[in-house]
Amino acid sequence: MPLFLIIRMTKYFLIDNERQQKTMKDKKFLKRQNIDYNIIWEIENMKDNPFNITFGKTPLKLIYRQNTIDHVINTFNNKNPNVESYIITGPRGCGKTVLLAQIIKEFDSMDNWISIDLNPCMEMLEQAAVRLYDSAKIKNLFIKKEFSFSFKGVSFSLIGDKKIKDIFSLLKQMLEYLKRKNIKVLFTVDDIAKNDYVKAFVQAYQSLIRQGYSLYFIATGIYNNVSSLYSDKSLTFLLRAPKILVEPLSIRAIATTYKEIFKVDLETSINFAMFTCGYAYAFQILGSLLFKEKKYEITDKIKDEFDIIMEDRSYSQIWKELSKKERLVIETLANNKEMSHSELLNKLKMKNNEFQVYRKSLLFSGLIISDKRGSIKLALPRFKEFVLFTAYIEGDK
Ligand SMILES: Nc1ncnc2c1ncn2[C@@H]1O[C@H](COP(=O)(O)OP(=O)(O)OP(=O)(O)O)[C@@H](O)[C@H]1O
Ligand SMILES: [Mg+2]
Repeated sequence: MPLFLIIRMTKYFLIDNERQQKTMKDKKFLKRQNIDYNIIWEIENMKDNPFNITFGKTPLKLIYRQNTIDHVINTFNNKNPNVESYIITGPRGCGKTVLLAQIIKEFDSMDNWISIDLNPCMEMLEQAAVRLYDSAKIKNLFIKKEFSFSFKGVSFSLIGDKKIKDIFSLLKQMLEYLKRKNIKVLFTVDDIAKNDYVKAFVQAYQSLIRQGYSLYFIATGIYNNVSSLYSDKSLTFLLRAPKILVEPLSIRAIATTYKEIFKVDLETSINFAMFTCGYAYAFQILGSLLFKEKKYEITDKIKDEFDIIMEDRSYSQIWKELSKKERLVIETLANNKEMSHSELLNKLKMKNNEFQVYRKSLLFSGLIISDKRGSIKLALPRFKEFVLFTAYIEGDK
């Protein structure tokens, strides 16, 4: 059993009896009587489950975000594209990695494109050179042994008369070939954050685009990590990269999928879909739980199990990554239903311009939604219950 669950259980049961009874009466959100802490293990090992609860893996039951994919492909395939980079952002678990994987797959299926996925926690220029050199699609361009260069155990053989001094000039040499062959290169980075590898790569990349190579770039990242990159003035091209905020999945598409799998009526499938609020990870979790129960209704037990999995796999991480003030805004919203802008300001006792900073980051993080009338509410399913539970436990320390 994970350590966190043991700690959580111990804390939970240590609340003294009297107080616990009062809590149970007053605070519905603490009512997790049907807790089965083995649930995550059980779901992960369930046979024939059509849903998938692993982050970063393209699920069997995938709801296509075809419009976004087409938009990126059409833009990059334009004769004179006015956008050559995108940043995909949204809350943890909304489907950034899965979306990126689909985009990569589309580009890989086109002859005049090569995609190179880079790990932001390792030296990135090296990775770019090695992956490009190794790319099966263009291997034949580099195999003539007329020029050799060895770097960290990898030896490159290229045709050419320019002296290769370092990994940057090696990369340039390869890009030169690709340019002549009209092959475009797409660099992708999943879960970008500000670090020295990313900074060094982005600076080299900016220099390469200034030199006219056909390079394209897509990164995914949570808003707080992405915005920390924007604050660095030396990374100008990232600043200009349009952001794609990963929207919730369509309720209609989720309902259709549930209806097909569980053979329930339309109304029931729509209720299930609404429960997920379109949050991709919730779609997989609720699907798995309903599949396990074989009883197609959202019972208290399912809600409890849903809360446990969401907390362990997603919400705790989201919570950890928020600043103190962002948490305060979220807690205030969790304690009240839907609030107007001015009600929220009043409760927070915050100046409007200060509030706007947190409002913007929480909107871009996909954690709150604001409608046309300006009222604000939490966006993720049962996040309110998670926040109240966490605030209670943390207040208990
Ligand atoms: N389009 C989709 N249709 C159905 N399920 C999806 C879709 N996209 C993602 N999922 C599911 O949602 C979960 C989270 O997806 P993913 O790992 O892509 O999220 P993420 O935004 O990259 O999260 P993180 O920020 O933590 O890396 C996975 O279980 C995945 O199966
Ligand atoms: Mg991801």
